[in-house]
Amino acid sequence: MCGIVGYVGSRNSVPILIEGLQRLEYRGYDSAGLALIQDGSLMVIKKAGKVVDLVDLIGDANLCSHLGIGHTRWATHGEPNDLNAHPHWDCNKEIAIIHNGIIENYATLKTKLEHDGHRILTATDTEILVHLIEEMYKRADDLFTAVRLALLEVEGAYGILVISKREPDKIVAARKGSPLVIGLGENENLVASDAAALVDHTRQVVYLEDGEVACLTASSFVTKTIHDQEIIKQVEEISFDLEQIEKGGYEHFMLKEIHEQPESIRNSLRGRLLVHDGTAKLGGLEPVLDTLYKAQRIIITACGTSWHAALVGKYMLEQLTGIPVEVDYASEFRYRNPVINPGDVVFVISQSGETADTLAALREAKSKGATAIGIVNVVGSTIARETDAGVYIHAGPEIGVASTKAFTSQITVLSLISLLLGRNRGLPQDQGCKLANDLQSLPEKVAKIFGEASHIQDIAEEFKHAQNFIYLGRGSNFPTALEGALKLKEISYIHAEGYPAAEMKHGPIALIDENMPVVFIVPKDAIYEKVLSNMQEVRARKGRIIAVANEDDREIDSLADHVIRVPRTYSYFGPVVNSIPLQLLAYYIAIARGCNVDQPRNLAKSVTVE
Ligand code: G6P
Repeated sequence: MCGIVGYVGSRNSVPILIEGLQRLEYRGYDSAGLALIQDGSLMVIKKAGKVVDLVDLIGDANLCSHLGIGHTRWATHGEPNDLNAHPHWDCNKEIAIIHNGIIENYATLKTKLEHDGHRILTATDTEILVHLIEEMYKRADDLFTAVRLALLEVEGAYGILVISKREPDKIVAARKGSPLVIGLGENENLVASDAAALVDHTRQVVYLEDGEVACLTASSFVTKTIHDQEIIKQVEEISFDLEQIEKGGYEHFMLKEIHEQPESIRNSLRGRLLVHDGTAKLGGLEPVLDTLYKAQRIIITACGTSWHAALVGKYMLEQLTGIPVEVDYASEFRYRNPVINPGDVVFVISQSGETADTLAALREAKSKGATAIGIVNVVGSTIARETDAGVYIHAGPEIGVASTKAFTSQITVLSLISLLLGRNRGLPQDQGCKLANDLQSLPEKVAKIFGEASHIQDIAEEFKHAQNFIYLGRGSNFPTALEGALKLKEISYIHAEGYPAAEMKHGPIALIDENMPVVFIVPKDAIYEKVLSNMQEVRARKGRIIAVANEDDREIDSLADHVIRVPRTYSYFGPVVNSIPLQLLAYYIAIARGCNVDQPRNLAKSVTVE
């Protein structure tokens, strides 16, 4: 998730680009940069930090350019520093590119380009693309064709803008998987990753579709498919206001992020899942793979929602790899003088990569000689830098304080690690393939659940005045229950507890009466019947049951007051799917109670104090 904006026209592009980047900063904010064509030369100005740091760098320089592109980065490959900031350029500094997305086959392309004499200077996947375009430009008549030809060789996702000083009046834009919208003005045209950067200038827009490439000048635009077929695009009118656009038309960031999950899970899997081999490829773990394969024990440490993902990870890792796994709150781990043996590997999970307790736990583990692996969202964050190796979850910026898409992406990455280690430790290929197929189907299954939204909203309306909630699940759906309860308390301020369903009879059952809503996560898995018995126990005490159950489960209808249907998933990965309705239930209850879901009281997105 990066912000992209481009301008070509009669006005000075610089203030337009800067203002556009400021509007897009919510999409990523670890570095920013511009490429401009001024007096026939191509210049690039870029800086780690926020857009305001770029503005400081520009200072009083008298920049005046009628064509430029701007980028605000949310790093996926390579630390967020000045060098890795976009735009990137080719060997001769004639072409500049900005990119949002992930080029999956960048390592293969890099080897080939270096062999052909290209000098690659940064750790980004984007720079590879500009060198590939440079290569194609040698045989193509124009930039538009060169970009098109280059994209035929690229696997992955992109929204790109490319300019060249040899064709100083053109911006070439292309999209696959990462949005781009063209804004049409009078003697000017703009293009951006979302309409927020355009609305001050025009409301006439054209949305690029996947596989389309456009060439913009001040007075025209042409669109083709990457296979060279011309397409006539429909001009549309934006009717949203600015705030709605930033939230993608959703009322809150949290709701937007819930709905982004098919895409964020896909991004976590992108280029990593080898479906036919039934395994995963995780480049970030390569330096420690030998240690990991031989691990005697895995300890996972984290806080909050990330700790719940760690608990789900325990179930998957132990089942698929046979390695014993312990999960510890980072705040406890750091102070309990933990025993670390040779052969122990510590996984550290953090969305922000900055949580103080998790960072301290990481340092404690490393000081005792453990190999530490990070599972982090924010690239270049402290935890990402201090771990020995790691896997970024690539969920994109999470703005809502209550974590949603980071949770499902953390589990997705833990699934990939489990699959990789499992195959190395004897999991047969056919089983690996079955798991890989199941993982690949997760985005589609998650998307299907959004069809239940209005039903969940009705349930929320019925229970909005509840004072307490209990969430119950077994196996890896026990941590799902914990996460469901946490979401509800975080944003609606209703007291909620998660328990393993069978543990209820050892205490919480005393709380059950006709006023107690009980959410059961009850997929049709090996312990389904056992959970049904627990439901009977609640029903006998007049508790009100909301069940998250599989689409084809009819037995559940006679036991539950409300059933939220979810697609069937292989049980280890079930929490990814089953947590979606719990996020929506918490969201709709909080809204019905008039709470501020994006900024709940007393909480912070990143807790950098003890
Ligand atoms: C805070 C946030 C939680 C988050 C936890 C851990 O408490 O409010 O949503 O789960 O920190 O954050 P991390 O960035 O380390 O995953």
